[in-house]
Order: sequence, then structure tokens, then C-alpha cells
Amino acid sequence: MWKYSNPVRIIFSDRFITQVSKIANSYKKPSILIITYKWFRHTETFKELENELEEFKHYFDIEENPSFSSCQKAITFTKKIQPSTVIAIGGGSVIDTAKAVRMAVYKSCYDIRKLFSSSYKQVNKPLLIAIPTTHGTGSELTMWATIWDKVNKKKYSLSEYNNYPDYAIYDVNLVKSLPTSVSFSSTLDALSHSFEALWNKHSNPISDNFAMESIKLIIDNLSKLVEPIPIEVRENLLIASMYAGLAFSNTKTAAAHSISYPLSAYFNVPHGIACSMSLYPLLKINEKAIQNKIANLLNVLQLSSIDEFWNKVLGTVKNRIPFSLHEYGIKKRDLNWLLDLSFTKDRMDNNVRELSKRDVFKILEEMY
Ligand SMILES: [Fe+2]
Repeated sequence: MWKYSNPVRIIFSDRFITQVSKIANSYKKPSILIITYKWFRHTETFKELENELEEFKHYFDIEENPSFSSCQKAITFTKKIQPSTVIAIGGGSVIDTAKAVRMAVYKSCYDIRKLFSSSYKQVNKPLLIAIPTTHGTGSELTMWATIWDKVNKKKYSLSEYNNYPDYAIYDVNLVKSLPTSVSFSSTLDALSHSFEALWNKHSNPISDNFAMESIKLIIDNLSKLVEPIPIEVRENLLIASMYAGLAFSNTKTAAAHSISYPLSAYFNVPHGIACSMSLYPLLKINEKAIQNKIANLLNVLQLSSIDEFWNKVLGTVKNRIPFSLHEYGIKKRDLNWLLDLSFTKDRMDNNVRELSKRDVFKILEEMY
């Protein structure tokens, strides 16, 4: 038995503002809250947004990898506004903060720590429109928001069906000036989402299909991430990220993400890099368990082995971004305690093959 569902309405547009305005104006008197980065406030796009939407409130105080305290600030701000529409324009941190904010209004619960367990008060659910400005997060298509306890360096997931955005609007103009390093790490995040969906206990033919399409697009375009990056490459990577989002929205992530969390929490390894350095060792470990999928993928890509596949990825990535643990200040002796923190419940256990501590230590050594 398997099932697939994703309730997010997807819109691709070369002017997201028109789409946002259409949706918002379908409400009689919308009370709009825009959540985005500080820098976005000074862009021409933001001015256009101000001209197009009659009235809105905005919130810019976004923390990279949002913590309990930054989400609490955003929630406290939102309590006074009671928005009918929340618009998130940004990467995963913005969209995850917006999800927490929208859920707080929906549950009428304005304490971030209680939000995880509180039930619904059946007040109106604000509309959530997620507009990604990177081609990797996938958060616009998932029902979970990652929130960090930065004091204890622990990751929490606000995860329930009502957390799905109502709309995901993709506009290639928003990603066209993404710095190359961010493009790389977000593309690698999307690549990880695709593989994690393939070697996942919850995979199904639909998630597999989306994952394959995503990997194909990424392999065709990764090497073209050279300045000036053609707009078609950006568009293909945005579509790849969307496919990856549709794939892992139904499977969740698995071992690669589980291993990545302490690397980001303790050594600030960018998320997309932290969760893709383990892809090759995991490909080798999981190869047998997903033999048909790998054969299919290699056939589509016209490659003969996973080694050839990975050399293609590595050939593009190496020398462009640091891609080994030692390059992030991690010492060999750190691998011992990182190992203990690599087993995140509800992530590591999604991996199609059960991984022992010995397996994961070997993976960390290969990543080193
Ligand atoms: Fe990710």
C-alpha cells in the first residue's frame, strides 16, 4: 500500500507580484503580513510589491536557521496583526518562520514552545503563500518547519498536515542574482532531497518519479553554474528544486539530513553542503536496496556506474566550494562525538537500510 498527497497549489510566473495580488484581492479586506529578509526591503521588487498591494504589514527580523527565540519574536509581532494572509518571500529560514507564525494564529497559541502540542481553537486559518528565493529549500512544498534550540543545539520540527502552505509561487527573477556559492549549496540541498526520497522507507512511484526528474535536471545543469549564469539554468534548477520538494514532501528526509544537523549546528556547515557530502557513501550503502531505481537513473543519465555519476557531481563541485569536513574546522577526533549526534529520530530511521554506528562512522570518515 502506498499513498501520495500534496495540497500546495503551484504557480510558475515571471511576475509573482501579479499572482500574489490576485490571490490576496480575492479576499474582501485582506490583512496581509509579508515575512522576508531585511535586504529585500531595499529592492525594486519590494517597491513594486508596495505599489501593487494596497496595504500590508511586514516583518524582517529573520534569523538564519530560525531558533525558538527568533520565531517567538515573529509570533509576538503577529499576534497584534492577526493576518488573514501570510506571504513568505525567501529561503527556508523565512518560509519556516512564516509557517510557525501562521500556525500560531491558526491555533490561537502565541507561545512557540506550546505550539508543538497545542490543539486547534478553530479560529480562521490564515492563507500562507510561500515564494522561494533559492532553488533548494523545498519548504514551500512541505508540511514541516525546522526550528532550532540554539542553546542546546537541538533541531525540532513543527510538523503537521495543516502546516502546508496554500500556494507556492515560483518566479525565476527572484533567483537570478543568487550568488554562485548559494546556488551551489541550494542545488546540492535539492539533490539531497531527491536521493533521500529515493532511498526512503516511505518512497512510492510518484515520489520516485519526481526525485528522478529532479536529479536529471540537476546533473544537466550543475556544471552550467558559471557566471554569468544563464536564466534557463536558473529556471531548470528552480524546477528541479520543486520536483525534489514534491518528492520528499511525502517521504521526509533520511540519513544524509540526519548526519548533517550536528555539522550545521556546531560547525556552521551550510545546510546544502552538510547534507550532500554524505551522498556518495550513502549511495554505495543503499545501492543494493534500491537497485532498480539506480539502474533506471543511470540509464536515463547515460552513465555506467554510481562512481561515474558521483565523479560528474564532484568534478563540478570540487575547487568551487569546500566539500570535506576538515575544510570546515572539524578535527578527526570530533567524529566520535559527531557520530552520537548523527542519529536524528524520524530521519535516520527513514533510510531504506538500517545503519549501524559503525556504518555512520565510516560515512563520516569518508566525508572527512
Ligand atoms: Fe534539506
